[in-house]
Amino acid sequence: MDHATDGSSTGTGTGTGGGSRPAGAVLVVGGGTMGAGIAQSLAQAGAEVHLAEVDERAAADARARVEDRLTRAGAPAAVERLHVVTGIPELAVALAIEAVPEDLELKRAVLRRVEGAVPAEALVATNTSSLPVTAMAEVLADAGRFLGMHFFNPVPRSALVELVTTTATTDRTVAVARAWVRALGKEEIVVRDSPGFATSRLGVAVGLEAIRMLEEGVASAEDIDRGMVLGYRFPMGPLRLTDLVGLDVRLAIAEHLAATLGDRFTPPALLRRKVAAGELGRKAGRGFFQW
Ligand SMILES: NC(=O)c1ccc[n+]([C@@H]2O[C@H](COP(=O)([O-])OP(=O)(O)OC[C@H]3O[C@@H](n4cnc5c(N)ncnc54)[C@H](O)[C@@H]3O)[C@@H](O)[C@H]2O)c1
Repeated sequence: MDHATDGSSTGTGTGTGGGSRPAGAVLVVGGGTMGAGIAQSLAQAGAEVHLAEVDERAAADARARVEDRLTRAGAPAAVERLHVVTGIPELAVALAIEAVPEDLELKRAVLRRVEGAVPAEALVATNTSSLPVTAMAEVLADAGRFLGMHFFNPVPRSALVELVTTTATTDRTVAVARAWVRALGKEEIVVRDSPGFATSRLGVAVGLEAIRMLEEGVASAEDIDRGMVLGYRFPMGPLRLTDLVGLDVRLAIAEHLAATLGDRFTPPALLRRKVAAGELGRKAGRGFFQW
């Protein structure tokens, strides 16, 4: 809402009023949890959004999802900027973001098609949360205009987009991506493509160490969390956050990071035991805390 425009602005994003404005239309591929949130945020910021889904059924679901979110967010007028399509048609957009399921081969195939469907100067981005961005860049004819734009859930309320660059990503691509992030009222950090990027890697490291401390009886779960909240001004303790994310989700990320970055990410036995026992966190009613 805060960056609503009439969507008619053009240029490369050096807007007025302290924030850049959307520079053209956007293609979002995949209208699930993340794609719908990205589409919502873009439409609210004034961009024309083309949201692509696999078939008519999925397209209708995606449309309903975004329309419902826009209405609940008090921005019903933004619905007019939402255009839901099936397949990946040729579109004169300035930016394309894929948010299809986390599967490297699927993403590579989708990105190759996206690259052929948008103008040569358009940016192409992936919203992957854990796959190597470089492995996607490899299949593109022009990897210079490609990067990761890692949005967080729920997109409209999150302040951060992690921009993930490969060795091929050009400076212009980063500059234009930054402008889009600002146009959404968010802020970016720029991270070289590497396992866990910056946020998952550090967030999981702290979470795993907290679990190891609990395992070793250093302090109670409550006190470990309170130590970081009161002493380090974390908005939430690392164990509570693990409960919210899901212990199974954190375990999978830790296994991936252990395989790629080394033993320091080896999941603690306590985490494995809790996952095996079904204590997955808030969604299961119990994790490190009772919910
Ligand atoms: N959920 C999260 O918290 C989160 C956070 C950050 C990043 N991500 C990443 O975002 C991506 C999407 O995750 P999600 O949670 O939104 O998944 P999701 O399953 O909710 O949505 C994926 C959507 O993509 C659609 N789709 C599948 N194949 C398609 C195709 N060929 N063309 C067009 N649409 C297609 C599906 O119909 C579905 O609607 C993943 O890469 C994930 O890692 C997720």
